[in-house]
Amino acid sequence: MTISPWLTSLARRSRRALSAATSSPELRPSYTTSAVSSATVDKDGCIKLHTSSEKLIYRPKAGSSQFSVGRLVFTETMRLGHEEQMRESTRKELLKYESPELRKMIAPILKGWASAKANLDVLELGPAYTTAIPEALSENLRSYQAVDFSQPYLQKQQEILQENPALAALCHMTVSDIYDLNKAKASCDLIFASCHPPLVSSSINDKCAVLDKIHALLRAGGTFALFPWYFSEQPQAVNRHLLQLFQVKQIAYQHDWRARLFLILEKR
Ligand SMILES: C[S@@+](CC[C@H](N)C(=O)[O-])C[C@H]1O[C@@H](n2cnc3c(N)ncnc32)[C@H](O)[C@@H]1O
Repeated sequence: MTISPWLTSLARRSRRALSAATSSPELRPSYTTSAVSSATVDKDGCIKLHTSSEKLIYRPKAGSSQFSVGRLVFTETMRLGHEEQMRESTRKELLKYESPELRKMIAPILKGWASAKANLDVLELGPAYTTAIPEALSENLRSYQAVDFSQPYLQKQQEILQENPALAALCHMTVSDIYDLNKAKASCDLIFASCHPPLVSSSINDKCAVLDKIHALLRAGGTFALFPWYFSEQPQAVNRHLLQLFQVKQIAYQHDWRARLFLILEKR
């Protein structure tokens, strides 16, 4: 998966290490999830989340606001690299490279979230070839749209989805940069993004622009499911913008509430 070449190799190494560390059942991580009754941001940028049992405080980390590798542009070199990766990787290898939280934490939580719902229109940003989300929501979908600027990745995703023809019939792919995505406003019930560079490593303005776009694409009361989110490491302006546009309904994490959070947010 491409964030940039160095981020990619870093991600691969850490995923391999995690995969090795979690292969034994006693070390397999579980996750914690909590409903959030309020989320506030104070003048110093501290985020306070109130759950039924505790108050979680995220203080801004010095210097973190500067972290940005800018806007990624999909190049011909990247396309050729992705094509080669898709040609040469087995299904088992591809599974190893996807974010481990996708199947262990996020998919079961979203399955539970969707359980009493039907005819959902779902948009996933940057799924690459991963299929965990449409598979988890298969019984509740009207439509699933995958948007990614890598055509080789999306083609592989569609190929894997064809193994369940009933599900594949509800799924379609759009090869597009998220910044250029042309889609009707208020047309989605759920938008999901995992390890999506425009929300991880882009500039403050680009992150806010993507959040605005997601907000506009959701129907009233629609859900934005976002992973990973580090309140302490995001620029204050981005945290503020997120909380202005969305209400935090639920958080989940595998190891520590200070680390990689999965957020379930509702459009304000
Ligand atoms: C690190 S992968 C994440 C894959 C998967 N969601 C996961 O969590 O394992 C990031 C994906 O986002 C896509 N991507 C990055 N920037 C994008 C952009 N501006 N517009 C559309 N897709 C983008 C990449 O092609 C890649 O498939």
